[in-house]
Amino acid sequence: MLAIIGGSGLAQLPVLEVTHRQVVRTPYGDPSCALTYGKLAGQNVVFIARHGYGHSLAPHEINYRANLWALHNQGVKGVIAIGTVGGIRPDMAPGRLVVPHDIIDYTWGRKHTYFEGPERPVVHVDYTSPYDGGLRRRLGEAIAATGISGVRDGVYACTQGPRLESAAEVLKLERDGADIVGMTGMPEAGLARELELPYAHLCLVSNWAAGKGGRSSVEFDPATGASGVAAVMACLEMLLRAN
Ligand code: HPA
Repeated sequence: MLAIIGGSGLAQLPVLEVTHRQVVRTPYGDPSCALTYGKLAGQNVVFIARHGYGHSLAPHEINYRANLWALHNQGVKGVIAIGTVGGIRPDMAPGRLVVPHDIIDYTWGRKHTYFEGPERPVVHVDYTSPYDGGLRRRLGEAIAATGISGVRDGVYACTQGPRLESAAEVLKLERDGADIVGMTGMPEAGLARELELPYAHLCLVSNWAAGKGGRSSVEFDPATGASGVAAVMACLEMLLRAN
């Protein structure tokens, strides 16, 4: 069974045939909300809304450890994480789907590891390739099969938020090698690796990053949001159908 983590604009999966919900407690506290079980494209999936049902949790308030632990405890075989991002690279225009291949973590002060505390060993997991190759390939094939405008690679910069970046900050991210910028990719992806859970990110570009795309301000276009959710859903259904 695959797990799907929904981001901004995706507090529920529109076409999920819900079978039941389950409240899960973890040694790390409470997840963002109950887990929702159901069928999507005929396959069993479990879904969690990263920001909670009512989008009440800011990126730095999310209990990433509890969310990933809860999913891992359900025995899921992999995680597809959905998130919105700002586009930095010229081809990362609003409305596009991106499957990043690498990540840079600029967050701070978030609970970002399971390997801490007196009872836990010190473990340094390999993180050369943060995302699972198999899941990335399946996402790329699903995007291609739906004919949606997508990019199969990119470096994701994870900023702390909740404010957006300044134009100078985005230029710095660009110089660092980042192609897209979001606020929730870390520590989520790192925790999945610590749990040895295959994890891949499906990003929807919701706006040009600050100072990019010829605009002076970051704008979230609701039309892009609506068609973006449809594109994300089409891609997920295609991936599951091809299973
Ligand atoms: N910056 C950071 N996070 C984001 C953005 C952005 O421009 N758009 C959507 N999530």
